[in-house]
Amino acid sequence: MTRGIFITLEGPDGAGKTTIARMLAEKFENTLLTREPGGIEIAEQIRRVILAKENITMDPRTEALLYAAARRQHLVEKVQPALKQGKMVLCDRFVDSSLAYQGYARGLGVDEVFTINQFAIGDMMPELTIYFDLDPELGLSRISKNQGREVNRLDLESLDFHQKVHEGYQLLLERFPERIIKIDASGSPENVLQDAASAIEKHLNKEA
Ligand code: TMP
Repeated sequence: MTRGIFITLEGPDGAGKTTIARMLAEKFENTLLTREPGGIEIAEQIRRVILAKENITMDPRTEALLYAAARRQHLVEKVQPALKQGKMVLCDRFVDSSLAYQGYARGLGVDEVFTINQFAIGDMMPELTIYFDLDPELGLSRISKNQGREVNRLDLESLDFHQKVHEGYQLLLERFPERIIKIDASGSPENVLQDAASAIEKHLNKEA
């Protein structure tokens, strides 16, 4: 029986990972592409609450707990069943987003946010995480040029916040060097796709 493979895609806003995720899902067979927060009805409902532009009074801990709640539901309802069927699950954002955004950028503490997430995910950590690295200023300018993209409550945060998110990811790279592979997201989609695909192929060959 083939075993499932859990891979997550991470990065600051505007890094282009959603576009590359779609291309990766076409390239690799037997793949389920999904995203957080969302991916299933209950989690999409939670996503709407978290990201609604009018919810400016949301407390950072509430925000962290809502992301963890959406994560739990998505994991049990969608990710785990697909892994059991032997699929490769490509998840656009997972726990590292909470560590970088809520733990580091919001200042709740990376360890504290990891602890509440352990309640949500147990030991379900991804075996590979591809981190799309991009200067936050460039990320924000890509967002403002992309007319079709939803602009959410977190996109509207200051450049300072997005710089902290970027710093948070650098800390995670140091903390999980075996799991997280950094790729440069500033190049053309073709180049970024090639780098992401080779990171996955390398991982698959290592496991074979
Ligand atoms: P998206 O634009 O990649 O769909 O993600 C929505 C926003 O939510 C994005 O700004 C990143 C943020 N986010 C967190 O702050 N914490 C999390 O745990 C996740 C999954 C996303």
